[in-house]
Amino acid sequence: MAGSDLKGLFIVLEGLDGCGKSTQAELLSDFFARRGIRYLHVREPGGTSLGDKLRQILLDPQTVLTRWGEVLLLAAARAQLVQDLVRPALARGEIVISDRSLFSSLAYQGYGLGQDVELVKRVNLEAVEGLLPDLTFFLEVEAGVGLARQATRRGLDRIEQRDEGFFQRVVEGYRQLARDYDFVRLDGTLPVEVVHEQILTILQGKLREEQEDE
Ligand SMILES: Nc1ncnc2c1ncn2[C@@H]1O[C@H](COP(=O)(O)OP(=O)(O)O)[C@@H](O)[C@H]1O
Ligand SMILES: [Mg+2]
Repeated sequence: MAGSDLKGLFIVLEGLDGCGKSTQAELLSDFFARRGIRYLHVREPGGTSLGDKLRQILLDPQTVLTRWGEVLLLAAARAQLVQDLVRPALARGEIVISDRSLFSSLAYQGYGLGQDVELVKRVNLEAVEGLLPDLTFFLEVEAGVGLARQATRRGLDRIEQRDEGFFQRVVEGYRQLARDYDFVRLDGTLPVEVVHEQILTILQGKLREEQEDE
């Protein structure tokens, strides 16, 4: 479970833009809602008044920002979200579904932009006071796939406009993180419903495990 004092379960969806995180977060939310299971659905960056303002700045193609500026604004948004919403929900024993997490910063700003991954991790762990997800689903797609899905849907934001090489590094970074942090790797090119069923199967296994531990 998420930290010793927290009763809830902290679930995170990770992967490249367009890999299906929001789609799966919605399906999972609907699943919990239909069963009357209390949950909180958040996305990063955002979710608080500060976070939504920072999201606008971070994604606006007009924004000029240094690499560390990007790391720190993301960490500031994340810190606020975790303090104001995520921890309280976990303390109430709820399931939290988060669309992105500090792992996105390790993949994008660490591996993608070439910032020191260990330092990005330290800054973010400080920001969230050590809270790590209980279960991280990595929806794996190749760099071109996600962006092609996004580009047909809407324009690309500031970070999505980066070159192909950036997204190659990000996806390789995710693969490394998947090994280091024991992510659940799922094939994001499978049909939406199939991915959803795989998530439910893993989740049910995890919930059973936790009940047995109690
Ligand atoms: N497994 C899938 N197969 C095909 N298309 C998908 C799949 N999952 C999501 N999509 C579509 O791809 C686009 C991006 O999905 P989205 O969930 O918004 O990705 P993300 O939140 O990771 O950026 C949407 O148009 C969505 O309907
Ligand atoms: Mg999304």
